Amino acid sequence: MKILVTGGTGYIGSHVVVELLKNGHEVTIIDNLINSKTTALKNIGKITGQMPIFHHANLINYGTIEKIFKDTRFNLVIHFAGLKSVSESVEKPIMYYQHNLTGTINLLRAMQVGHVNKIIFSSSATVYGDSKNAKRTEDMPTGQNIANPYGRTKYMIEEILKDVCAADPKFSAVALRYFNPIGNHPSGLLGEEPNGIPNNLMPYVMKVASGELKELNIYGNDYDTPDGTCRRDFIHVTDLAGGHLAAFRAVKTPGFKAYNLGTGTPTSVLEIVNTFEKISGKKLPHKFAPRRPGDLAEIWADPSKAKKDLLWQTHLTVEDAIRDTLTYLENHQ
Ligand code: UFG
Repeated sequence: MKILVTGGTGYIGSHVVVELLKNGHEVTIIDNLINSKTTALKNIGKITGQMPIFHHANLINYGTIEKIFKDTRFNLVIHFAGLKSVSESVEKPIMYYQHNLTGTINLLRAMQVGHVNKIIFSSSATVYGDSKNAKRTEDMPTGQNIANPYGRTKYMIEEILKDVCAADPKFSAVALRYFNPIGNHPSGLLGEEPNGIPNNLMPYVMKVASGELKELNIYGNDYDTPDGTCRRDFIHVTDLAGGHLAAFRAVKTPGFKAYNLGTGTPTSVLEIVNTFEKISGKKLPHKFAPRRPGDLAEIWADPSKAKKDLLWQTHLTVEDAIRDTLTYLENHQ
């Protein structure tokens, strides 16, 4: 298939592009390189022996995007591009709504012009907001009590996609709700390198391990969880990437569908730290700090819908992800 990947040089996008190329698809990437580098393209080439077509473009410039769709007839769009820092979204909500919503609307307009009616969207478990039941199923309500503008853009985009599907009986949209992606390609060539001080756990752990940051703050050890720290569903990014190819099965039929991509098993923040220390054989300096506002105590996926409909499940463990993270760190020192 001819597939357009927006945000294809980013952390998750680049891992998906590797899997697409390995499976014989023709890939075109659009990326504005705000949070990624062209070295990802070079490394995708090293891993797969193939180079995707690349456009350095921003989805908020409609004319540029429309031209790409007029020049090539794509079969499918996989949409990752978007801003993704929770804390930045609280400080700069307008920027988040502009990039994530206007960017998606422009993409959908250009898809109409290019007669493309299939999209897989990179959504997030954040659309569920808070709930009494930590294990989320796709039929649980979305959009309530979402703690930040970033999360709300994911929810709003899902709603837009539902409306587009309702208006066009041939249109199909699959929202993949990611839980907590960690790890990287086992070659250590692709990975997550956010600008500045990271918000997310694993990028922060990596900076402490490399000595760039002094110590990890574990936000809260007084939660109602087995060890008092928050629990999340950490999924290896290679398993997550496989979920996108599995989603081709669902995107074949019209309508809106959502799937959780997670392991179904929670791991605590402290367990991540302990496992990191065990595998690396080194101490990871850390201390307990106050709770981070907006954090849920626990959230993990019920991945059974993806297993049933997409024949997809995870194969890799948190240990695999940490081992691959250490390979990445060795490659980048
Ligand atoms: N944490 C720390 N110290 C840090 C960073 C994180 O203790 O320096 C803790 C957090 O408090 C939380 C856990 O590690 O308990 C995971 O935090 P992340 O920021 O890595 O991930 P979140 O679960 O908060 O957010 C992730 C994605 C979001 C997505 C959300 C959906 O980053 O994009 O899951 O649940 F919206």
